[in-house]
Amino acid sequence: MIPYSVILRFGPSLVTEIDPSLEYVRKLNSRVHHVRKNGEDQIFRFGTIMFKRTLEREIMGLELAKGNPVPKVEEVYCQNGDRIALRKTFIPGREFNMATDQHLKSQAYELVRRIHAVGVSYLDLKVDNMIVNENGLHLPDFDFVSIKGFFGDYKLHRDYDNECLIRIFGKR
Ligand SMILES: Nc1ncnc2c1ncn2[C@@H]1O[C@H](COP(=O)(O)OP(=O)(O)O)[C@@H](O)[C@H]1O
Ligand SMILES: [Mg+2]
Repeated sequence: MIPYSVILRFGPSLVTEIDPSLEYVRKLNSRVHHVRKNGEDQIFRFGTIMFKRTLEREIMGLELAKGNPVPKVEEVYCQNGDRIALRKTFIPGREFNMATDQHLKSQAYELVRRIHAVGVSYLDLKVDNMIVNENGLHLPDFDFVSIKGFFGDYKLHRDYDNECLIRIFGKR
């Protein structure tokens, strides 16, 4: 069992402690790591107790926006039923370029519109949150979203809990 105090020293070693089966871990920023599992590149995002709600919102936003060019939720790591980390698919590509990617702007607006249509307000549209590859534009970062019914609709929350792939620490 990993106590919350440990979260203060978050880094590659803690990521490997949470999931020892990871083959590669590289820190991208304070809460985001690039990892590899079963030969596949993925992103590992950490949520401290302060960011627990944010992480839950990201997970739910990604589930609701499924089918769009956004990462797939691969695993949600929990401690005593609390979500503390998320592993999602890595989207290869490069950052959106304001000078040369003007033709992709309409894709960005259309994608945000489709995400809104499933009840998720995407509130963080900016170049470093837009990945461009041969399949077009992708939105990898659901850290800053607002979800219709997130606080009020408890049922949605509970149903989500039943569906998510949860691993309880200490019972590996
Ligand atoms: N699913 C992903 N696939 C590929 N790269 C990603 C993915 N998620 C994040 N990244 C990379 O990591 C950086 C930081 O991740 P991001 O989710 O934007 O974190 P933050 O919420 O701190 O802005 C991004 O700018 C992007 O380069
Ligand atoms: Mg970002």
